[in-house]
Amino acid sequence: MGRLKKAVFITFEGTEGGGKSTQIRKAAALLRRQGRRVLLLREPGGTRVSEAVRAVLLDPKNKGMRPEAELLLYLAARAQLVFEKITPALSRGVSVILDRFEDSTRAYQGFGRGLSLSAIETVSRNWVRGDLKPDLTILLDIDPARGMARGGRHDRMEKESLRFHRRVRQGFLKMARRNPERYEVIDAALPIEEVARLVKGRLERVLR
Ligand SMILES: Nc1ncnc2c1ncn2[C@@H]1O[C@H](COP(=O)(O)OP(=O)(O)OP(=O)(O)O)[C@@H](O)[C@H]1O
Ligand SMILES: [Mg+2]
Repeated sequence: MGRLKKAVFITFEGTEGGGKSTQIRKAAALLRRQGRRVLLLREPGGTRVSEAVRAVLLDPKNKGMRPEAELLLYLAARAQLVFEKITPALSRGVSVILDRFEDSTRAYQGFGRGLSLSAIETVSRNWVRGDLKPDLTILLDIDPARGMARGGRHDRMEKESLRFHRRVRQGFLKMARRNPERYEVIDAALPIEEVARLVKGRLERVLR
């Protein structure tokens, strides 16, 4: 589909404070050293429309948001990002590293909130990402209490209970077990440089 061979699509997932932002910077530097062009994006966000939706989603004042409304807003932000940024970049041969993608929706709104995973799949396939699929998903796995103790943004999602975040974590682990060819699960409690070494190992296998 016009997607050049060299461009890869990598997503980073996991609960809060696992080190996604930290490791994404290192992964991007690695890809660039190899002469690849790289676009870094975060979800929700990355376009004007998606950043506006992000502000609504993460604002702690929006306490009364229904899970269904939350789900649709995340998907709306993603649809805009896929059409406006991700697909065009990949088809120009630019690799994309994305801080959260559809697995976060499955984990938070599916496993966390209890919304239907098959409904998420149907809407996503039809309206959000088509058949776009990451070449690799790095799951930075950590106990949510430990991740959140690393500091945090105190946004609307972070204010959810520890039980909620533990369901989310288990959801991520379940998806990783079901999709081992796409997933790399890394113990995010390890030191930053050790996590980076493990990310690099799997990344190099995918890039080859
Ligand atoms: N492996 C690690 N060991 C100890 N501290 C870490 C590790 N990785 C990241 N940190 C620190 O933990 C904090 C959170 O890291 P970072 O922002 O990269 O996580 P994140 O997954 O992007 O979080 P969020 O979900 O809030 O965006 C930062 O202060 C970072 O320096
Ligand atoms: Mg981050």
